[in-house]
Amino acid sequence: MSPRASAADASRALTARAPSQGSQVAEASDALVAVIGLGYVGLPLAVSFVEAGTPVLGVDASAERVAALRSLRSPTDDVSDERLATALSKGLTVVHTDEADLAAPDALFVCVPTPLTEAKEPDLSPVIAAATRIREGLRSGQLVVLQSTTYPGTTGGPFRRELERSGLIAGRDFDLAFAPERVSPGDPASHARSVPRLVGGISPSASRRTAALLRRISDRVVELSSPDAAELAKLLENVFRNVNIALVNQLAVLCERMGLDVWEVIDAAATKPFGFMSFHPGPGVGGHCIPIDPYYLAWRARQFDLIDRFVELAGDINLAMPRHVVDLVDEALSDRGRAVAGSLVGVVGVAFKPNVRDSRNSPAAEILALLAQRGADVRYHDPHVPRFQDASGTVRESRPLDELLDASDVIVAVTVHRAVEWREVYRRADLIVDTANSSRGHPIRERQVLRLGAGWARPVSQS
Ligand SMILES: NC(=O)c1ccc[n+]([C@@H]2O[C@H](COP(=O)([O-])OP(=O)(O)OC[C@H]3O[C@@H](n4cnc5c(N)ncnc54)[C@H](O)[C@@H]3O)[C@@H](O)[C@H]2O)c1
Repeated sequence: MSPRASAADASRALTARAPSQGSQVAEASDALVAVIGLGYVGLPLAVSFVEAGTPVLGVDASAERVAALRSLRSPTDDVSDERLATALSKGLTVVHTDEADLAAPDALFVCVPTPLTEAKEPDLSPVIAAATRIREGLRSGQLVVLQSTTYPGTTGGPFRRELERSGLIAGRDFDLAFAPERVSPGDPASHARSVPRLVGGISPSASRRTAALLRRISDRVVELSSPDAAELAKLLENVFRNVNIALVNQLAVLCERMGLDVWEVIDAAATKPFGFMSFHPGPGVGGHCIPIDPYYLAWRARQFDLIDRFVELAGDINLAMPRHVVDLVDEALSDRGRAVAGSLVGVVGVAFKPNVRDSRNSPAAEILALLAQRGADVRYHDPHVPRFQDASGTVRESRPLDELLDASDVIVAVTVHRAVEWREVYRRADLIVDTANSSRGHPIRERQVLRLGAGWARPVSQS
């Protein structure tokens, strides 16, 4: 099918196939798969299935996303435009939810966002909206797999209830499972076939069918006893990161007070060949997962009369880091007899982590807003993020690095992209706040660099 085939063509092509019945068909090599939600998780999944020879109906609720994909523009660096074009020519069809015939696929994977409300409680509205849309075409024999990260009890609870409003019963008429995703945007290794996948079905048949499909794109699929166990396993992975990042963030603040270098301390601990895993401090946590998922667990735990203090405490510490960075900027400027108010602050890197364009929930949003609130003229440079909205809603455009280095009173290194000329930054900037150890290996002048977790960097001459 041509990459630009119309939605109508796509739907016709798909419905021309006899709707399948029963598990044998969904496991058959020509089973049709639908992927609902074509973002950082759904698009790589859809493309992987197509590359494994499985045709995919890709469905998204955003007309803009559908148009971009049909114009061969991938929203994620993890799927290049060329790879998207190949997938579109080899069995991937992209349609808007309003146009999708969801009775046609044998299996449907749901990869929609799971955000938080203002009160930091789970917002399942995209998941329920996807279930409503599936329910409208649900037929006997289909397999529905939720992939969105969520609290234990979602698949077998609200998601199942919405699907069963069709009159069909999960486990009897259709199969239902949860299979979490482990991608880490910008890290190709996280997409490798060798990364095991987890599956928990509401019945052994649902687990078996889901596992059979996922084995086409993954070398190892681990079947769990229930969707709840798989949901909790995914949350454990992310809570583990959040708690450990909070631990080193707090240690970083302590090291500043003690006059120690947290990076040296972590590197030293990491020489232990067992029982230790390195985590690094930074300006805060970002992305779709770490700042959000732990609150799904904390919310669910309260329903079992348990306050998840680990999650709440880690959240508290990590959420405070952008404010700490702004305090460091204040300290650095004070050293020059200046105040934040009236200074030009140049932030380098606003994506939530290095070498990606994903800036969702980036701590830079809070840092920029707080600096502006304290009266600074704030500009940023990020080769991957041309426009960026800070936490107060102000939208700025990326400025050339040269402009920032020429004009800024202080540079704040937030995201250490490879594509930034760090050598130039450390050569030319007079004053730098380094939040992510970007100064390592560069010649440093006396009182030039104030490092998060380490205080003023000792001078290092060029040798
Ligand atoms: N980004 C990650 O690194 C990552 C890793 C593992 C798991 N997850 C989880 O995967 C899920 C999806 O995350 P993402 O990063 O891919 O999100 P995303 O925002 O990149 O993509 C979600 C897509 O779903 C579409 N969408 C929203 N509501 C829809 C609906 N009702 N029907 C159809 N399409 C809809 C959006 O338009 C968007 O294109 C989340 O639960 C997230 O926690 C994300």
